[in-house]
Amino acid sequence: MSKLMDQIRAKAAAAYKHIVLPEGEEPRIIEAAVTVAKEKIAHLTLLGDEKIIRERAKLPDGIEVVNPKTSPLRAEYAELLYNLRKDKGLDKAQAEKLVLDPLYFGVLTVKSGRADGMVGGIIHSTGDLLRPALQVIKTAPGISTVSSCFIMVLPEGSAAASLYGDKGVLVFGDCAVNPNPTAEQLAAIAIASAQSAKSIAGIAPRVAMLSFSTKGSAKHELADKVIAATEIVKKLRPDLEADGELQADAALVEKVGRLKAPASRVAGRANVLIFPDLQAGNIGYKLVQRLADAEAVGPICQGFNSPVNDLSRGASSDDVVSVVAITAVQAI
Ligand code: ACO
Repeated sequence: MSKLMDQIRAKAAAAYKHIVLPEGEEPRIIEAAVTVAKEKIAHLTLLGDEKIIRERAKLPDGIEVVNPKTSPLRAEYAELLYNLRKDKGLDKAQAEKLVLDPLYFGVLTVKSGRADGMVGGIIHSTGDLLRPALQVIKTAPGISTVSSCFIMVLPEGSAAASLYGDKGVLVFGDCAVNPNPTAEQLAAIAIASAQSAKSIAGIAPRVAMLSFSTKGSAKHELADKVIAATEIVKKLRPDLEADGELQADAALVEKVGRLKAPASRVAGRANVLIFPDLQAGNIGYKLVQRLADAEAVGPICQGFNSPVNDLSRGASSDDVVSVVAITAVQAI
């Protein structure tokens, strides 16, 4: 585990937030919950059948189990859901049925103030996890787009770690949520990723808006979107070190940055990389993870009113512990 993840776990433990895990019967979730509770990283609620969960492990203090199918909170949550979604055509009978779904019960637990955040997705797709959160928890005030980032940690002591990012730590966005963002959404992704870089990775953000063009080297409507997004970022957040459009090498490599974008303060020293769409972002983070043997911490969702994070279906129990810790830190 990287030093960064150690720091995040310690920060979470100091705050001791309450996180709900809707896929509570899944063995990797139970194993992670036991570690989280023993290390006092967060207080947890596991959703699921108590008998099944307790048969799978002896649960230490700091873990509650709630069964959405029998919980006395069902009526309250159905009413809450109905009120939140009736304008969208949801009726009471549909709301009563939806609260039996642990993903809805989980976001309603957060919305009702009984938990600070939710972590799920180990047996659900990203879309299935995010939709209830988008409908119920919604975006934070002033933010219209939920997006995601990964904190990429290059192997400690490697040549790459000494050359790129902040001692080998970089933030990539958006790699998991918005398939084809508009220029406005791309700007929102950049601003949110810079915030995550600061508050979760602990680095001072230098944001590069990536493209296949550097400062007009290619003319194309796809590059124009990145140029427009860069202008929006600069207008909304003049305090932020952000620049574009930049190719990845101009963003990361000092010599190339000096050559291709000599007037840019970000070129050659970027530590937050913003990809123009989800295909580029998702492919980009996986290539760095595999080819550079980087630790990919995330996806970390950003922009929700309360933190909700998505687990990869291939996540190990240790990955779950890390995402719980990140969610708890976001809830501070
Ligand atoms: N930010 C804010 N609100 C949003 C966003 C967003 N990014 N996307 C949708 N919404 C809102 C909608 O406006 C809608 O609001 P309303 O119902 O109150 O009017 C609500 O959320 C639900 O929207 P839907 O249209 O039902 O949901 P949609 O079908 O657009 O799905 C989703 C949204 C799930 C995020 C979708 O864009 C998606 O599946 N993205 C890709 C996820 C994915 O597969 N990622 C790759 C794998 S992850 C990995 O590899 C790590």
